[in-house]
Amino acid sequence: MNVTVNGLPVSVDVAGAGEPILFVHGFPLNRRMWQAQTTSLSDHFHVIAPDLRGFGAGQEVSPVVTMEEYADDLAALLDALDVREPVNLCGLSMGGYVAFAFFRRHRQRLRRLMLCDTKAVADTPEKKLDRERTADDVLKHGTAKIVQEIPGSLLCNETILTRPEIIRAVREIMAEISSAGVAAALRGMAVRRDSSDLLKHIDVPTLVLCGADDAVSPPAEMRSMAEMIPKAVFVQVPSAGHLSPVENPADVNDAIRDFLMRH
Ligand code: MLT
Repeated sequence: MNVTVNGLPVSVDVAGAGEPILFVHGFPLNRRMWQAQTTSLSDHFHVIAPDLRGFGAGQEVSPVVTMEEYADDLAALLDALDVREPVNLCGLSMGGYVAFAFFRRHRQRLRRLMLCDTKAVADTPEKKLDRERTADDVLKHGTAKIVQEIPGSLLCNETILTRPEIIRAVREIMAEISSAGVAAALRGMAVRRDSSDLLKHIDVPTLVLCGADDAVSPPAEMRSMAEMIPKAVFVQVPSAGHLSPVENPADVNDAIRDFLMRH
């Protein structure tokens, strides 16, 4: 469905009834990365998976969108959908950075957190420069290069060698994102706050979920992150890299169900 949020048209997949789960996609993806979760989990939950600002079709976007702006859009989306009860927020990678911002700004709207393949630290100076260079390149030459290159760094070897349909699907999603949306998110991530000191203050039950072969936010780093969060459970997902919900949806869906039932 389409709703207007903070003056912008937003595409959002909404299905099912029960406790709400708000899915926040990673970069440079959109709500479609959660298809296996929304299809399965809508049997018991009210699933909500929006495109973030700049990741939807036909949206104008400013040169930088911060994690705080994405988080405020999500709160406004919940208002637009009349979701008043606290939600379970599940964010992957950049979606996790947005989850930290949502925790800081909208704590009262959170029931639980699910942090998938993400990290708490801010960018290094080198990473910031690299993002700025990529943003410039994408604005000048379009997204074809990153659509070609990025899936190789996000997916695990097993997926790359044996599941060409997943590489195709990820590329199709990436190809839908505008250059302006990609550049704005890159610049927003480059200026995001370091959330390491926030971890000990996260007082909601939290699932920390990581693909066993995630090279971007590796299991050892995510396990340490989970150890800092008072009420966290750490789950490692086999046969998955950085895009665990796409690469191994069955295990990710089981982990989410189990966490939401027990905690
Ligand atoms: C993502 O998957 O959202 C990205 O890897 C996040 C990032 O570039 O830091």
